[in-house]
Amino acid sequence: MCCSHFLLYSLPLFFVLVSRCESIDFNYPAVFNFGDSNSDTGGLVAGTAEPLDPPNGQTYFHKPSGRFSDGRLIVDFLMDAMDLPFLNAYLESVGAPSFQKGCNFAAAGSTILPATASSVSPFSFGVQVAQFLRFKARVIDLLAKGRRLARYLPQEEYFKQGLYMFDIGQNDLAGAFYSKSEEQVFAIIPYLLSEFEAGVKRLYDQGARRFWIHNTSPLGCLPENIVVFGKDPSKLDELGCVSSHNRAAKLFNLQLHALCTKLQNELSDANVIYTDIFTIKLNLISNYSKYGFEQPRMACCGFGGPPLNYDNRIPCGRTASLNGTTVTAKGCDDSTDYIIWDGIHYTESANQHVSSQILTGKYSDPQFADKMPFLMKLKF
Ligand SMILES: *[C@@H]1O[C@H](CO)[C@@H](O)[C@H](O)[C@H]1NC(C)=O
Ligand SMILES: *[C@@H]1O[C@H](CO)[C@@H](O)[C@H](O)[C@H]1NC(C)=O
Repeated sequence: MCCSHFLLYSLPLFFVLVSRCESIDFNYPAVFNFGDSNSDTGGLVAGTAEPLDPPNGQTYFHKPSGRFSDGRLIVDFLMDAMDLPFLNAYLESVGAPSFQKGCNFAAAGSTILPATASSVSPFSFGVQVAQFLRFKARVIDLLAKGRRLARYLPQEEYFKQGLYMFDIGQNDLAGAFYSKSEEQVFAIIPYLLSEFEAGVKRLYDQGARRFWIHNTSPLGCLPENIVVFGKDPSKLDELGCVSSHNRAAKLFNLQLHALCTKLQNELSDANVIYTDIFTIKLNLISNYSKYGFEQPRMACCGFGGPPLNYDNRIPCGRTASLNGTTVTAKGCDDSTDYIIWDGIHYTESANQHVSSQILTGKYSDPQFADKMPFLMKLKF
């Protein structure tokens, strides 16, 4: 990786990159994160008290960590790259978690649109933003009472200097397909994005200036969606992914990218970075063997065996009775061979690959290639 920097620096292109990127400063004192299971470090488990069973967490934390994976998530690798500790969940009430370097409002199952009675998570984006506002008000209140709690709380200026990171929308799209046609799903996308925009602007009004927005993943490649919507092979693309779901994700991303450009223009003293996770993940699924994986779609932890090893009645680590037979959704022998962890989420190995691609800066608008030396403290 280092060699490629030197190459870059020796090219005339270097000057172009510098001038395009000079407004971006990756020296963030804190990170405030919003989203769903892609970046939930324990929020849903703390907030709903629904347990997450082993083998979740087995690879890195050696026990369930509140993350829907065998190990670290993209957000963990990014925090590491920024020399910041892993984010604690806002909803974690026990053990006096430190929020000095940031706070995570993400919760698995969360949607951009307000939750309904059937939602997995009551902590939709608007609720997460409201939680942030309360968090900020409480922090300022407590800091005013003295330095005693300072090591648990961000400094007041961190709210302005900190990075606000987002990865949300996948559950809105995935959920909509259960009751809507593809055209109807396309039609809700502007509503999702206007709700998202309203939340981002509330944060801006509270002083947030540095935004990093991840686009949504190729959800059509997840076993969860393939088993329900891909029964008819004509619904699948050449990668074996549900075409309609990936088309919806692409349209969402196109409109999200346009929104990011608009926000950057409107909020001229802000920095808005849009990052294309979709392309990174689709490339990984398509070219999996090149990146050292053996299974592009089959779940490591699940029940049912090939081709997907996924049964939506039995979540990873759970035991259930099917036709009077007791069965368990178990983990595979080596999760590093797999991209998909439990049929819905990615393995730590896949998350690590995606993070390394994000950190090249090539998938972001604006790109941040010239800041690579600051970022590459990661031990990949
Ligand atoms: C897979 O890799 C090839 C060769 O590098 C590339 O052209 C192609 O775009 C990749 N596939 C995807 C879906 O990105
Ligand atoms: C349960 O029974 C149904 C109907 O006989 C069958 O199609 C299905 O495969 C069975 N499931 C299991 C886990 O054996």
